[in-house]
Amino acid sequence: MDATLKIGGSLAEEPERLRALCRELGEIAKNHRITAVPGGGRFADVVRELDERFHLHDNVAHNMAILAMDQYGMFLSSITPGSRTTCTLDGARRHSEVGLLPILLPSRMMSRADPLPHSWEVTSDSITAYIAGELGSEKLLLVTDVDGVYTGDPKNDPAAELIEEISVADLSKRGVRTSVDVYLSKIISKATLDCYVVNGRYPERVRAILDNELPRCTRIRD
Ligand SMILES: Nc1ncnc2c1ncn2[C@@H]1O[C@H](COP(=O)(O)OP(=O)(O)OP(=O)(O)O)[C@@H](O)[C@H]1O
Ligand SMILES: [Mg+2]
Repeated sequence: MDATLKIGGSLAEEPERLRALCRELGEIAKNHRITAVPGGGRFADVVRELDERFHLHDNVAHNMAILAMDQYGMFLSSITPGSRTTCTLDGARRHSEVGLLPILLPSRMMSRADPLPHSWEVTSDSITAYIAGELGSEKLLLVTDVDGVYTGDPKNDPAAELIEEISVADLSKRGVRTSVDVYLSKIISKATLDCYVVNGRYPERVRAILDNELPRCTRIRD
């Protein structure tokens, strides 16, 4: 696989921009071998709220949060021309071979393999990095609603600056969630993945990375 992309749930807040991104991904899939993995978005937020109120068992919260990704994936497929949902790595490979965009619904494979800790440090970012490794992807793109990883939350801190390049070790040292989850650095340090955090509100940046250019984004290197 050329690349595995996580489509952030945050992008659903702006319908026209998400539709434009999905149209572009459908086009890109015609001549790049790519797989999309859904984020959890508001579906996962509901699980987080229930967990806060009811203190769910870790396994239950983890499995429910991954089912949230399946739900967002079904929705994404419905607005993405030329896409197909699949539950398997082979299905993803088959669809991408014929120029379709596979949208991998992860719950089935994740419950069978169960490779990651059951904690909120693991979210769709880490799950997508794991899947990218299983697919043998060269690139991992975490597509979200801000330009990349900043020195602080750009939505609350006007002084926050974009970090254009960060090592896995430095990302790991931050120890707090940024636009990506805390566990991600542990997975990408094991894999040989070229990893980018990029703003999906600008679909041309996503295409640029897949065409081996370097647009405004954060690159995470070894
Ligand atoms: N240091 C930081 N750098 C960049 N963004 C940050 C940082 N700290 C917090 N954020 C917030 O992270 C958000 C993106 O992550 P978030 O998990 O909300 O979305 P997502 O990963 O696209 O969606 P989902 O997790 O639902 O798939 C940004 O909108 C931003 O407000
Ligand atoms: Mg997220």
